[in-house]
Amino acid sequence: MRGARGLEVSSGSMSPSPHVLRRTEGAVRVVTLARPEKKNAFTSAMYTALTDELVAADIDPGVRVVLLQGSGGCFTGGNDIADFMSNPPAGEDSPVFRFLLQIVDQVKPLMVAVEGPAIGIGTTLLLHADYVVASRDARLQMPFINLGLSPEGASSVLLPRIVGQARAAEWLLFGDPIDVELAREAGLVHAVVDKAEVETFAMARATALAGKPPGSVQLAKKLLRDPCRAEVKDALRREGVHFVQRLASAEAAAAFQAFFTRKRDRA
Ligand code: COA
Repeated sequence: MRGARGLEVSSGSMSPSPHVLRRTEGAVRVVTLARPEKKNAFTSAMYTALTDELVAADIDPGVRVVLLQGSGGCFTGGNDIADFMSNPPAGEDSPVFRFLLQIVDQVKPLMVAVEGPAIGIGTTLLLHADYVVASRDARLQMPFINLGLSPEGASSVLLPRIVGQARAAEWLLFGDPIDVELAREAGLVHAVVDKAEVETFAMARATALAGKPPGSVQLAKKLLRDPCRAEVKDALRREGVHFVQRLASAEAAAAFQAFFTRKRDRA
């Protein structure tokens, strides 16, 4: 099945989403979030389709690297707030939780190309990526507190480990946009390039990695991730319990309402 820009629509999922597209270039599986009219905000169906894409890439012997990207000059606006309100994740069987567990256990390298906004899980999923390239206009942000929510994606454990306690506290508590050069210096992003070069640069890095001995690459990834894998899964579970409770809080309801009111006011 083919969707926007001639890309193959994800079809491995039980609930295929037209908003997750797939193509393969050599040994690189490119997975594209394709809901630009909503800033590629994640619905439950998109999480399910993306999880299925990651599983399919891991078992496909022709795939050595997965490259995840957005579309329309945006990586993602994060969780779809309307979907959150009407279809809140309930626990470990929820699509978002399954997605997070999959990126923790992904065997093959995951690379991410970020253009424009990368909000909420758009930033926290980078903590699980093996290589991140961002455009100079990338806008990383974790506004969980501003939304009456709490840190997710194992960010409470991985963010301080990667960027240090002080920056992690500032980025999570204030939830302000993070300067992309600072994100690179801090180790959250590997390379920052001009917007026009992001796709080419990311594909070149993905192709280079795909050209290396795959058994060795996968072993190196496993050795890098194994020491903290159990701790990361514990964090996902711990954060998940709080996140689900916070979603039902009056503070979150007010923040979500404010987002949609802001939209109406701008219209
Ligand atoms: N959930 C639901 N809809 C979203 C969304 C989200 N997370 N992010 C963007 N959208 C929708 C907007 O509601 C808008 O829809 P409309 O055209 O039907 O009104 C459309 O995407 C375009 O967004 P808009 O806000 O007009 O674009 P922008 O360029 O001014 O800003 C963002 C882009 C991503 C910075 C802004 O949309 C935003 O802050 N989104 C919410 C981010 C967020 O809080 N995510 C949750 C984290 S847990």
